[in-house]
Amino acid sequence: MDKTVVVVGGTSGIGLRAVERLLEQGWTVWALGSRERLSAVVADEERLTYVQCDVRSADAIREAFDRIRQSCSSLRALIYSAGVNITGELGTISLEDADVMFDINLKGPWLTLREAIPMLRESAAPDDPARVIVIGSIGGIRPKVSGGIYGATKAAAHVLAQVAAAELGPQGIAVNVVAPGSTDTPMIAAATKAGAESGYRASGTSPLGRIGSPDDVADVIFFLLSDAAKYVNGVVLPVDGGTRAAYNNR
Ligand SMILES: NC(=O)c1ccc[n+]([C@@H]2O[C@H](COP(=O)([O-])OP(=O)(O)OC[C@H]3O[C@@H](n4cnc5c(N)ncnc54)[C@H](OP(=O)(O)O)[C@@H]3O)[C@@H](O)[C@H]2O)c1
Repeated sequence: MDKTVVVVGGTSGIGLRAVERLLEQGWTVWALGSRERLSAVVADEERLTYVQCDVRSADAIREAFDRIRQSCSSLRALIYSAGVNITGELGTISLEDADVMFDINLKGPWLTLREAIPMLRESAAPDDPARVIVIGSIGGIRPKVSGGIYGATKAAAHVLAQVAAAELGPQGIAVNVVAPGSTDTPMIAAATKAGAESGYRASGTSPLGRIGSPDDVADVIFFLLSDAAKYVNGVVLPVDGGTRAAYNNR
């Protein structure tokens, strides 16, 4: 089986952990991110190619996929993990900050998917579809004060993925969303710090007594890539330890 995957936002947090584990499991990985280079830990792995790509630019996305197309004709999977969470109430958050979130959290998954479809189709089969996994958020299911724009971009990304599941299913491509709750990555540390000023509070400890780890989310990504998930299409799957299941008033 072709085991080539593109991981957008593969330079940090959940995406980086997915890249490390995909390499361990024999995948050929194209990692995209806006920083100049990937962390040294995985940088010299021979099945890994890093392409610098700021997903706020449609041209940059097209150029990144042109580079991928020069080396490979088919893709087994696309994982979109790039994201930003800039907190602030709707009355005060700037248009620039909102645009950054719409570009990266919503337009990014759409534009990268659009580039990847022809290559995904090459590895597609009705009984074993190619896989697309978008990392959404429980912020798009149960929104938070000072997380209105972030939550709106994530809810919209969930809808985008669900429609893609229906449109691309007949072409042998399954599209699903993994929606993490608070997960121990640089993003949650930054959002918690900024939230002290903006009034945003991360979901924090789940009913299972801790916040999530990048491996908790990567485990579910691997389930959705696996043969066991070949008939799973169009779901938004929370990975939050039950945080959104009920309001916690204790
Ligand atoms: N951590 C949480 O608690 C949590 C909860 C719910 C959902 N999520 C979602 O999980 C996903 C991964 O987040 P994380 O927690 O792993 O955060 P992270 O460690 O901050 O990683 C974010 C990733 O997005 C990439 N990115 C940001 N701006 C980009 C741009 N303009 N162009 C290309 N790539 C860009 C970053 O790459 P560069 O730095 O190289 O640009 C990085 O790889 C995000 O979609 C986030 O919304 C996270």
